[in-house]
Amino acid sequence: MFSGQSIVTTSEDKDQFHFKADETLKVIGLLQVFLQYCVQAGTKSRMMVKVDRLSYNFGAYWALKDISFTLGKGEFLFLTGHSGAGKTTLLRMLYGALPVNRGRASVAGFQLNNLRKRQIPQLRRKVGVVFQDFKILPKRTVFDNVAMALEVRGMPRMNLERRVRAIVRAMGLETKSYSTCERLSGGEQQRVAIARSMVANPELILADEPTGNLDFDLTMHLMDIFKQFHTYGTSVIMATHSREVLDCVPEARILHLQDGCIVTDGESSINEENEEDD
Ligand SMILES: Nc1ncnc2c1ncn2[C@@H]1O[C@H](COP(=O)(O)OP(=O)(O)OP(=O)(O)O)[C@@H](O)[C@H]1O
Ligand SMILES: [Mg+2]
Repeated sequence: MFSGQSIVTTSEDKDQFHFKADETLKVIGLLQVFLQYCVQAGTKSRMMVKVDRLSYNFGAYWALKDISFTLGKGEFLFLTGHSGAGKTTLLRMLYGALPVNRGRASVAGFQLNNLRKRQIPQLRRKVGVVFQDFKILPKRTVFDNVAMALEVRGMPRMNLERRVRAIVRAMGLETKSYSTCERLSGGEQQRVAIARSMVANPELILADEPTGNLDFDLTMHLMDIFKQFHTYGTSVIMATHSREVLDCVPEARILHLQDGCIVTDGESSINEENEEDD
């Protein structure tokens, strides 16, 4: 997967990661190599997500009410809104954790209405997810948690090891690779979750408050990494409350939720016209 200047075997591998500007630039350079070698199968349609009059209720409570939007391939979309506005609920629907019964939704070529159980793993091969509560396995190492995303895809061990080490290094976690996750700080666990969502170079990344536990410098560094994936054509939907995070991607669209409704939707560069339903 990685040739020549392997991004994982330099003498600096053992160095502690510092988030200085030159180090960040180096990591971004490494990520570019990583992304160039990751070949995407690619969803044919230009539309990555299409949501049409979607609603969701927990019993009598409607967490999402009649929302519609589209996300073009390669677009970056922020989901904002107060606590309880419905951001996590929407993301959970988009990766098949909650059923689509009211309205319609398609993601990466999968129609989510009546999604069959056996299709869920196929959907998740195309979609990387950073959960708000991480959902990493505490007794397993950093390496194992990240590797899992490639094991389910049946990647050969040698390629898998290179890729995992590359993304772990890009996250500044190389000195923790073989620590179990229960021994990591909240911010380190969050970076493991981000690494796992990215390691397979998915077509779409759904990230739920991915920088919620991180300080300013680390937030900026990780936003640079998300932006690199975006530059290489990955679509991103990121839920956030943070103005700093929104300001990191000025070209992104912002979809503002309030009490389960979309109250504003920024301009999209890709038009819905002429697009066929997936
Ligand atoms: N499993 C559940 N059972 C009942 N109600 C739920 C459940 N999950 C979420 N809700 C409710 O749905 C609404 C939307 O929740 P959601 O988690 O989507 O909000 P959010 O915008 O992600 O909030 P936050 O910014 O705090 O993460 C909330 O009022 C919440 O209480
Ligand atoms: Mg949430």
